[in-house]
Amino acid sequence: MWPFSGEGPALWLALYLLTFALHAVFVSYVLAGTAYAFVQSLRRADDAIAERVRDRLPFMLGCGITAGVAPLLFLQLLYQKRFYTANLLMGPRWGAVVPALIIGFYALYLAKAKVSLRVRRLALATGTLCFLFVAWSWTEIDQLMQADAVWRDMYAAGKRIYGASAIYPRLLLWLGAMLSLFAIVASWWASGPERRKLAVLGLIGRAVSVGAALLLVAAGGATDGNAHGWLYLLVAALAVEAAGWVWMIRAPDGPGLTLVTGAGAAALVCATVVREAPRLALIEPARPEALEAAGFPVFAATFVLGVAVIAWIWRAISDAKT
Ligand code: HEM
Repeated sequence: MWPFSGEGPALWLALYLLTFALHAVFVSYVLAGTAYAFVQSLRRADDAIAERVRDRLPFMLGCGITAGVAPLLFLQLLYQKRFYTANLLMGPRWGAVVPALIIGFYALYLAKAKVSLRVRRLALATGTLCFLFVAWSWTEIDQLMQADAVWRDMYAAGKRIYGASAIYPRLLLWLGAMLSLFAIVASWWASGPERRKLAVLGLIGRAVSVGAALLLVAAGGATDGNAHGWLYLLVAALAVEAAGWVWMIRAPDGPGLTLVTGAGAAALVCATVVREAPRLALIEPARPEALEAAGFPVFAATFVLGVAVIAWIWRAISDAKT
């Protein structure tokens, strides 16, 4: 099935898309959740959702970063010199992602500690800015990878910021999607009026993404013709999801959330394929050495070791609790 046909790269592509979708869920919770908690702290509102979110944010950031490693590896296998060239061109401005993540991490711990409202606000504002910067950086590098026509001029001018017109609507599209994904995940820990509130946020997020998609088209963004089938599926999944949100507003503790989660997951997978379609032609063919390389025994051994270590840590924590 398109685009998963062919040899080695088809498997890598499928793994890339799946692991990227997982990454998107966690970082959406982090960016939208930090911004949500910040807004609530400004309103001085006694908000149980914000309190729960603040408590979970450091853990979710850890999950988001860990879940980013797998797509990062597949991305390098698929687009090799394009990814490395974009990295080198952006240089220190790209490298700034690492300190931004470290500062954001500490800010989240500070925000969940027992501190004054002023410090909490400052910590949440810092976290929001750091994660926004990281999201912007990923959007920019994604676009720069594909823009080989500007590489020479950018290098000659010593510019570190690409700044193409499609970047900002694309980022806005992501911010809307992140709000909806956050609302889906946060709803599982909420009930009654809280779920109603999150359902409204979920719908607002989708409206922002639709508006941003129109801006993106106006800025010259286009989907690849081959992805039409996936685009129709995406639209259908979003329509079902919207119906689920409305259902959740009417009956917050009913099955609406299950519908929203299923449709939202389907929309995310379809969206990753539609997002990837325009640059599929840039995938570098796998080299014969790479196709022949077989490291399955090593993979199996490290997999078993990894599972055993996680189980051991889990047991140690459970024993310590009891
Ligand atoms: C809170 C921190 C982070 C946020 C908010 C974030 C956000 C994003 C966003 C919005 C995109 C999509 C860019 C686009 O399509 O225009 C993206 C892509 C990606 N992110 Fe993250 N990210 C974060 C941290 C990380 C980390 C730490 C890693 C690696 C360990 C990572 C790995 C990736 C990869 C591999 C992609 C795909 C890039 C591509 O396909 O061009 N992310 N991220």
